[in-house]
Amino acid sequence: MSARFITFEGIDGAGKSSHVEPLAHWIRARGHTVIVTREPGGTPLAEQLRERFLRDDMDALTECLLVFAARRDHLRRRIEPALAAGHTVLCDRFTDATFAYQGAGRGFDWNVLAQLERWVQGGRQPDLTLWFDLEPAEAATRRAAARPPDRLERQDEAFFARVREGYARRHAEHPQRIARIDARGPEPSVWAQVEQEVGRRGWW
Ligand code: TMP
Repeated sequence: MSARFITFEGIDGAGKSSHVEPLAHWIRARGHTVIVTREPGGTPLAEQLRERFLRDDMDALTECLLVFAARRDHLRRRIEPALAAGHTVLCDRFTDATFAYQGAGRGFDWNVLAQLERWVQGGRQPDLTLWFDLEPAEAATRRAAARPPDRLERQDEAFFARVREGYARRHAEHPQRIARIDARGPEPSVWAQVEQEVGRRGWW
C-alpha cells in the first residue's frame, strides 16, 4: 500500500511550503501518483472559504467552524477519493493548524476542537506530519521579506509564540505521527531532514 496522507505544518514564515513540491517530485520519481493540496482550500467551496477566512474579521469560534467546514468538503471531495484511488496526498496544513492557531493562538477550547476533529474526520489522520519548527522572530523576518501579510500574519509575535507552543503540544500528544523538522538552517539542510524523515518510513 503506497497511498499515504502527509501534511506540512508550522508557523507562518517557517518555510514549510517550499518543501511540498520537492517532496511530491521525490515520491513521483519512485513511481507513485501524488496530489498536492492545501488547507484551508483544495476544493472550489473550500477555496472560497479560505479567501474570506484570510480577509474578514471574525471571532475564534467562527474561525474554527469555517476551517472545519472547508476541511469537511476537502476530505469528501478530494482527499478521501484520492487515497481510495491509491494516490498519495500532500497537504499544506491540516487539523494540527487548527489546534495550534485557534486552540493555542486564540485560546479556543482544546477539547471542543478534539470533538470537531472526530466529528468531521471520523478516524482519518495523516500518516505523517512534518512540523517545521522555527523561532517566531526568525519567521517574522522571513515573512517580511517574502510577501505582504494576510489577516493571520498580521498577528504579533506573542501570538506566533503561542501557536508554536500549540504545535509542540500536538507533537507531544502524537509523537509517532508528527516529526519535528528544525527549520532554522538553509533550505538544503531543511530538505535533507524531510528526505530522511520520509525515507526512514520505508513507504516508497
Ligand atoms: P498558509 O499561509 O499556510 O496557506 O495558511 C493560511 C493561514 O491560515 C495561516 O496563517 C494559518 C491559518 N490557518 C488557521 O488559522 N487554522 C487552520 O485550521 C488552517 C488550516 C490554517
